[in-house]
Amino acid sequence: MLILEASAETMATCRAWKRGGARVGFVPTMGYLHEGHISLVRIAKESCDKVVASIFVNPTQFGPNEDFARYPRDLKRDAAMCEAAGVDLLFVPPVEEIYPVGSATFVNVEGPITSTLCGASRPGHFRGVATVVAKLFGIVGPDVAVFGQKDAQQLLVIRRMTRDLFFPVEIVAGPIVRESDGLAMSSRNAYLGPDERAQATVLWRSLQEAARMFEGGERRAAKIVAKAREIIACSPLARPDYVELVDNETLLPVQGNIDGTALLALAVFFGKTRLIDNAVLQGKESQ
Ligand code: PAF
Repeated sequence: MLILEASAETMATCRAWKRGGARVGFVPTMGYLHEGHISLVRIAKESCDKVVASIFVNPTQFGPNEDFARYPRDLKRDAAMCEAAGVDLLFVPPVEEIYPVGSATFVNVEGPITSTLCGASRPGHFRGVATVVAKLFGIVGPDVAVFGQKDAQQLLVIRRMTRDLFFPVEIVAGPIVRESDGLAMSSRNAYLGPDERAQATVLWRSLQEAARMFEGGERRAAKIVAKAREIIACSPLARPDYVELVDNETLLPVQGNIDGTALLALAVFFGKTRLIDNAVLQGKESQ
């Protein structure tokens, strides 16, 4: 596995692969990898000849009081995991490679898909995400890029940007990977203390109960949200940021009854740690 820090060398390597007829897959990450990330690499490998992963803790997607400085980092372990998963090139740029002095271009995806949910609690977050992903697409030039469904809103933002900017990249979603007790895998789970970790399963339990109600025929959005909130409230350490049932494509809140497919999206604080999770509620009628 090649490990490169320079954008120019990464670009040259990927372009050479493409000229040779290879289909290039890409998995962008912020590192501190877990099985969720590795599952995205596996998805990329299924349809691509070469797989590039990147590790870059992107400063522009963190707010001033967020965890940029303490975001967990372990490049040695990450590199070993990527190599074992069959990554061909691991791109680990320093900040100056992505944001060189004088760089002045940012990508703003507008509308409810960036202003609601995480966009409301983390102003500027999706501007940072869209900008870095656009830059990484420019460097790697992938045919396919794989993103986790856990960040459902991020996935929609990237799909929108890819369409709007005519990037010739197929965006593929990887299913949420969970710990054995249901907690969605996340690099930020490392922040949780033992009691917080034990109680963090309320996210999954609330989503499961909501899915059960939906499968049982409940379509009233308010009822489903109330149940999810009730389960989260069973954890004394949980502080919900949002619990919302939204349209799966526009992210606008579902008013009244669910008609078609909806997304139940959660963000819950445990101490300073903010965890997100979601479930797609899809009726048989819209499958
Ligand atoms: O999902 C992430 O880890 C990040 O938001 C991404 C897509 C790598 C952009 O920094």
